[in-house]
Amino acid sequence: MSSGRTIVVGVTGGIAAYKAVNIVRAFVLRGDSVHVVATPAALRFIGKPTLEAISRNPVHTDLYEGVAEVRHVAIGQSADLIVVAPATANTIAKLACGLADDLLGNTILASTAPLVIAPAMHTEMWNNAATQANIATLRERGVVVVGPGTGRLTGADSGAGRMEEPDTIVTAALAALDAADRAAPARRVTPGDLDGKRIVISAGGTREPLDPVRYLGNRSSGKQGVALAEAAAARGAVVVLVAANLEVPAPEHVELRLVSSAADLERAMNVAAGDADVIIMAAAVADYRPAEVRADKIKKDDTGDTLVLTLVRNPDILAGLAAAKKPGQVVIGFAAETETDPDRLLGLGREKAARKGCDYLVLNRVGWTEGFASERNAVRVLDSRGDIVIEASGSKMSVAERILDLLR
Ligand code: CTP
Repeated sequence: MSSGRTIVVGVTGGIAAYKAVNIVRAFVLRGDSVHVVATPAALRFIGKPTLEAISRNPVHTDLYEGVAEVRHVAIGQSADLIVVAPATANTIAKLACGLADDLLGNTILASTAPLVIAPAMHTEMWNNAATQANIATLRERGVVVVGPGTGRLTGADSGAGRMEEPDTIVTAALAALDAADRAAPARRVTPGDLDGKRIVISAGGTREPLDPVRYLGNRSSGKQGVALAEAAAARGAVVVLVAANLEVPAPEHVELRLVSSAADLERAMNVAAGDADVIIMAAAVADYRPAEVRADKIKKDDTGDTLVLTLVRNPDILAGLAAAKKPGQVVIGFAAETETDPDRLLGLGREKAARKGCDYLVLNRVGWTEGFASERNAVRVLDSRGDIVIEASGSKMSVAERILDLLR
């Protein structure tokens, strides 16, 4: 089973909440990207800073924070797996009813990922007919229920209701993820059909420094470019991945060149492009950079209430690579557009394909919840005439496979 998945850990308000730390830690150590969604009651049992430090990500609790980025839906959509531990009787009842009165409820409803819950409560609450009926409902819907175990509870009592040990929960969660992966439609991997092809792929988003501590950046996570690199390597290609500030782990079996700014990326691409059969520009490149990079930190005492930045254009790296194309080389660009109308989006893609001069342009819509941070993508690939040659949607890996099919 591969690591580097996006896992949401829901923590609800029970005394066992402190044990959730070990669950989060186990996923982080595997290389997964872990996002904790805690109910307000959970934070009465365990501190947000602890969960943030261990998960290495902000911890979200409030339904009404991050509304502009539609966070209540975005977190669930990006999850490969959701684990709720501990799951109180109240949370279990809400899940059984499909309630969405808090961020965790919304996240779960907005997700198609496998859901694993680890109930924790007093024996009487566990044995209560309402709880048992709710658990039966959840099991029927495919929710994996781990435990509860039997043993000493919070007070002097003991019995069924103790949250299972973190290791057991993590093992069960990974088994659920594995089962979901196996049940997913077979990947269109054709090992070996790119044998020996040299493919240079840029991924991530550039950062343009302002001063020693600040930069102008974008929200590209690098997921689509990394998926392309991983899939191409699995199909036998020799892959150079020029990685700009990736938010996901780089795959194995690729030659990694780390860059940060657009200028770094341009240099690295120009060097790697020399003997490449294929060049794929999946990175989100800053179109502008600060005209001046300050040697010292910009101080408010010097700038006052407003700060006006002068930016200058960066070179168009893709257009440069396409113009310098060697015979037989294939150059693929991406287009990130926020246009919602499909016809106008296509028009923008066609204009961009013509302007860039590349062989193929992968057109995708980006927005607060689409494109960059998402696990999924929906693209149309245009050729140099602007004709649609591929329409693909699904996981970024399945989209990557379809794009690579062009190179066989
Ligand atoms: N690109 C590039 N150099 C730049 C800007 C973009 O090489 N300075 C590449 C990207 O890697 C991508 C393609 O050009 O493959 C399209 O990027 P996109 O951001 O969609 O378009 P822009 O060219 O920046 O145009 P606009 O922002 O006006 O849509």
